[in-house]
Amino acid sequence: MKKQPIGFMDSGVGGLTVLKEAMRQLPNEDLIFIGDQARLPYGEKPAEIVKGFAWQMTNFLVRHEIKALVVACNTATAAALPDLQAQLAIPVIGVIAPGSQLASTVTKNQQVGVIATTGTIQSGAYSQQLKALVPEMTVNGLAVPDFVMMIEANQRHGAAVQQKVNQLLAPLKMSQIDTLILGCTHFPLLATAIQTAVGPNVTLVDPAKAAVADLVQVLSDRQVLADTQQAGRLQTFTTGQVSDFTPIARQWLGLPDLNAQQVTIQG
Ligand code: SIN
Repeated sequence: MKKQPIGFMDSGVGGLTVLKEAMRQLPNEDLIFIGDQARLPYGEKPAEIVKGFAWQMTNFLVRHEIKALVVACNTATAAALPDLQAQLAIPVIGVIAPGSQLASTVTKNQQVGVIATTGTIQSGAYSQQLKALVPEMTVNGLAVPDFVMMIEANQRHGAAVQQKVNQLLAPLKMSQIDTLILGCTHFPLLATAIQTAVGPNVTLVDPAKAAVADLVQVLSDRQVLADTQQAGRLQTFTTGQVSDFTPIARQWLGLPDLNAQQVTIQG
């Protein structure tokens, strides 16, 4: 089992932010990533549909004999994590619980913002997790689905991008938050513009680091961490166009030779 790969799924390129952290913390593991770009955005679809997609992506990864699954998508975590955890024999890690845990340790004034897709905000998952950790927490949720498509189009820098980010995050300027959870795995790709928009007094929390730390812990507890000194192998798949996926993946992961494969998902 130690030699088996770890699977990562997302609706698109956002999950690469979690994959990148896994490459940093687990350099000797074989990793398989799939982005469902043909069907994104997940965040504006009903939870039952997202759950079905999450199962299809999971089944693809399970066919690659993964030893653990990371749901590197907040919308899919909100819609499908309990079901996946209940039905799979391997460990399944989501991003919402680790992100909430991290934010609860970062905030000084117990006022936390969450930016995410409509599906994630409507699920109330972050609010529930944060209030379970700190009952007096004030949680300001804001759906910013436009960020997902901006990032998928690799629109991440420049004056027009900053203007749009400022405009969409303006409601948060009225709040007292000192911590902002990037509650969509796409959003760290826009972190510079988001930080500029909310100002230096707000600490951004990217759940990726904490989610991968949880993954390391669970693999270690089960004694299934790779026991090799060799660099791990990375395979990347998209259900969309490789020409949309590859430039962002190469740039974000710092792997100029990365070549993604297109795959059709059939349940
Ligand atoms: C999306 O496809 O809408 C983004 C999914 C997410 O990371 O929440």
